[in-house]
Formats: sequence, structure tokens, C-alpha cells
Amino acid sequence: MSKIHAIITAVEGYAPEDVIDNEMLSKMVDTNDEWIMTRIGIKTRHILKGDKGPSDMAKIVVDKILKEKNISPDEIGLIICCTVTPDMQFPATANIIADKCGIKNGFGFDINAGCSGFVYGLTTATKYIESGFVKKALVIGAEKMTSIVDYQDRATCPIFGDAAAAVLLEATEEENVGVVDAILHSDGVGVKHLHQVAGGSCHPATIDTVMNRQHFIYQEGQAVFKWAVVKMAEVTEELLERNNMQKSDIDYLLPHQANLRIIKATGERLELKPEQVLVNIQEYGNTTSATIPMLMYQNKEKFKKGDNLILTSFGAGFTWGAILVKWAL
Ligand SMILES: CC(C)(COP(=O)(O)OP(=O)(O)OC[C@H]1O[C@@H](n2cnc3c(N)ncnc32)[C@H](O)[C@@H]1OP(=O)(O)O)[C@@H](O)C(=O)NCCC(=O)NCCS
Repeated sequence: MSKIHAIITAVEGYAPEDVIDNEMLSKMVDTNDEWIMTRIGIKTRHILKGDKGPSDMAKIVVDKILKEKNISPDEIGLIICCTVTPDMQFPATANIIADKCGIKNGFGFDINAGCSGFVYGLTTATKYIESGFVKKALVIGAEKMTSIVDYQDRATCPIFGDAAAAVLLEATEEENVGVVDAILHSDGVGVKHLHQVAGGSCHPATIDTVMNRQHFIYQEGQAVFKWAVVKMAEVTEELLERNNMQKSDIDYLLPHQANLRIIKATGERLELKPEQVLVNIQEYGNTTSATIPMLMYQNKEKFKKGDNLILTSFGAGFTWGAILVKWAL
């Protein structure tokens, strides 16, 4: 029997209509458009308002995929939701999405790998497909980052936004297409630099945790920057070497969107032309697990069958990784 491969057969994305631009931020904290554009490279970020969560954005995306592919929710064997901002502490947001989309025949769980969520999720789903355990899997990145952003902290509030995007992964026996290889890394040295202090079981919510603003993102920006600017390029080089590929074999790089300076430095180290390095940070900011599938969704018309895409990420944990995808459509 020939080997089973996992291929991406559909990709969709969604960002809420409401946006916060730099002008609006400059009325909330002591900042300005010039500082944000030079140091981070973000103009606007989309925000999900009201009592809605990542599952509401994910439902829009999953419904689009099911309709586009003309498949029944019953055919989905696995649903992975990559998120650091789940609808609730439990159950998993994947189960809430499954319920909202009528997916009853599969199983689902969440992956929390910070901004590397989608890269971890796609790798995990690929293993389930390749082993024959499931035939169709949804990998979703869905985040309501603005629910944990402190709009009194000028160092973090310009960075993050909300969005959801997802891929459908299917089994095929066709050779030389789909998810070819992946490398994942993590190092707990990153915990102290990027975390949310309260809300977990160590520090459940109390009046004090709320008053001390401990339910928001805590980030030591420079430490995170120093790691991110090196690790995405390094793991991509590791992946190329393992697959006997040269930098010139890359058609498109889909890097996590955290800071335009990090994205540019990664592209330069990999000797890519600017048009090969996909970017949408100006409009969406850092949507954590949703950045990479959102980039894929917005650029899918550009990709040709057989193109080598490299997906690479760095995030809280620290976590980082890279995936080689040979575009199958
Ligand atoms: C957060 C980040 C944009 C800050 O940029 P930076 O160049 O490192 O800036 P610094 O933290 O050194 O701050 C420099 C100065 O700008 C100020 N500053 C910070 N945010 C500001 C803002 N929004 N507007 C104006 N000034 C600001 C600081 O207070 C500091 O002032 P000081 O010199 O008087 O103390 C940058 O470190 C970064 O992008 N880090 C990685 C973040 C990331 O990728 N996170 C996602 C996880 S993957």
C-alpha cells in the first residue's frame, strides 16, 4: 500500500469588521502612528466586540470550508482549535466549534502553543492523517487577543488583533504534495518573558488579580524580539537542510506576523525577495494562532501546484517551528 500524505484542500479566513487604528490608540495611551509604524509596522487591528469568542469567528470559517468543498459535517474526523484565548477554560473551544457547526462524528481538542499554535496544530493533524487514523481534519487558528490586551499598556496594546482562519486537511496517496516535513521546538525559558499571570489554577481570578491587571498579556518585548528574530530563520534553515533543499527552493515564506522588523530580518537571512515573504501585519496585527492560516487564505490564488511554502512561527512558551508544504491545489 502506498504511503498516505496530508494535503491542504481548502483554506478560509475571517476578521471582524470593527478596527482600532493607531489614531484611536493614541487617544488611549501615550503613543503615535510614527512610533508604531517604525517599531512594529501595524496600522490597524480588527476587534471582535461583545459576548462573542473565537468559536464564533471559527464557525464562519468552517461553514465556508464545508460549503466550498460540498462536504457534510459528518465527514470531519478531527477538529483542532489552536488558541490562547479559548471561549472558556473548559471545555475545549474545538468542541464548541464542533457543536456550532454540527460536527458529530469526529473528535476535537485545543492546542495552546502561543503564536506557534497553527504550526503545532497542522503538524499534529498531519500525523493523524498519515497514520490513517482520520481522513479529514480541520485545523483552526482562532483568537480574541483583544480580550487579554491591556489598553493602558502602550508596549503591548498596539500589537494584537482578533481573527480566525482554518485549513481542511485530507488524506491522499498522491506523491510529492502536501505537508512534507515539520520541525517543532520549545524552551520553557520563555515563560518568564511572555505570559498571563492570573486566571489559571495557580492564580484564579480574585478582586486583587483584577485590580492588579494580572489577566492581561505580560510581555518583555525586547527578550521576545531577540529570540523571535533568530529562531524562525534558524528552524527554517534546519528544515531546508533536512530536506536537501536550498534557500532558493522556497517559493513563499509564511512567517508568523508579530513585528514587521522580525519578518523582514527573517526574509533577509533566508535571502528571499520581498515579494516571496508574505505579510499582512499592517492590517491585522498579531492574531497569534490565526496569522499563518490567514496569510495562506489571502494569498491562495498566488500559489501554484508544487510550490514550496514554508510556514514558520515563534511564540509564547517559547515555542517555534517550521513546516514545508508542497501546495497541492
Ligand atoms: C514590543 C516591541 C514592539 C517594543 O519595541 P522596542 O523597540 O523593543 O521598544 P522598547 O521596549 O525597547 O521601548 C523603547 C521605548 O519606547 C517606549 N514605548 C514602548 N511602547 C511604545 C508605544 N506604543 N509608543 C511610544 N513609545 C513606546 C518605551 O517605553 C521605551 O521608552 P524609554 O526608552 O523611554 O524607556 C518589540 O520589543 C517587539 O516587537 N517584541 C516582540 C514582540 C512579539 O513578537 N510578541 C509576540 C509574541 S511572538
